[in-house]
Amino acid sequence: MKTVLSGIQPSGNLTLGNYIGAIKNFVKLQEEHDCYFMVVDLHAITVPQEPSSLRDRSESVAALYVAAGIDPNRANIFLQSHVPQHAELAWIMTTMVNMGELERMTQFKDKSEGKESVGAGLFVYPALMAADILLYNANLVPVGDDQKQHLEITRDLAARFNHRFGNYFNIPEPFIPKVGARIMSLDDASKKMSKSNPVEGSYIAMLDTPDQIRKKISRATTDSGAEVRYDPAAKPEVSNLMSIYSECAGVSLQEVQARFEGKMYGAFKKELGEVVAAALEPLQNRYYEIRQTGEIHDILAKGAEQAQKKATQILDGVKDKMGFLAPK
Ligand code: TYM
Repeated sequence: MKTVLSGIQPSGNLTLGNYIGAIKNFVKLQEEHDCYFMVVDLHAITVPQEPSSLRDRSESVAALYVAAGIDPNRANIFLQSHVPQHAELAWIMTTMVNMGELERMTQFKDKSEGKESVGAGLFVYPALMAADILLYNANLVPVGDDQKQHLEITRDLAARFNHRFGNYFNIPEPFIPKVGARIMSLDDASKKMSKSNPVEGSYIAMLDTPDQIRKKISRATTDSGAEVRYDPAAKPEVSNLMSIYSECAGVSLQEVQARFEGKMYGAFKKELGEVVAAALEPLQNRYYEIRQTGEIHDILAKGAEQAQKKATQILDGVKDKMGFLAPK
């Protein structure tokens, strides 16, 4: 049994990218492993957040976890800010990471590009993410492709700590799906589908209604030609839609291609709309139920309590190794 940890920021509408690239794998991994799934609210405040929407979105992401099938009796579901050890270990990691390493992060480059003033939190973001992972001594971190670089820096920091203070941390492995690790924007397959994209038609939100889903897919950009063929280099737009189909219908890419042989884009997109709506509908029904009962608060309280137990133990060990004088 491995220790698995991952998190999602409560900073917008969760998208089909978050679902396929991350949440679906969380659900699978809970079957066999000791899992910690967080809502990373401390990460969300690295860009300005409206207090009332931060609160609502944090609850919403937690409810989506449960609605998608994460079982709170199997996995620990909690908010990052409910476990203060994250911030403490993040400070320690900040002292271990180099400015040059942080400057190389593409997420930082993207998010700070063109901005006159950039918060220091955005810069040290990877130190907090490393702390998230190392605080549970996680072995496995399910993420989409865009988090690879943050995982690399976490691995480097774990190794650096072990080297400096003696072996302590596991070197965590990323768990990145083969299909669906990078779901692209519906209006431009050169960009990843993102909840922070202001163009609503560019993403499918996990809570979009079936009608919104059908409409967005029918308007999705397609490549020239009409053949439904998986070829990301020559047909990036259609290949992206095929990945979505494959993940939502639970069939292989070859099967998708076979199903639409000789058919046009129009027929494919029509069916894709139905497939995505059908995949999300039961999840949405559960989501609204969960939000109504308020049960998520108990789930989060229990999750934070469990997480704190492990976090305290690991952090105490870190401080001991580093030479902090223990309180009497
Ligand atoms: P975030 O909130 O941007 O995204 C959450 C997860 O969804 C994946 N994802 C995608 N996968 C496929 N296609 C897409 N278009 C797509 N968009 C997003 C992301 O790769 C991610 O797995 N820094 C992290 C959150 C974090 C974290 C952690 C993750 C904080 N601490 C510790 C793992 C472990 C982030 O901003 O993810």
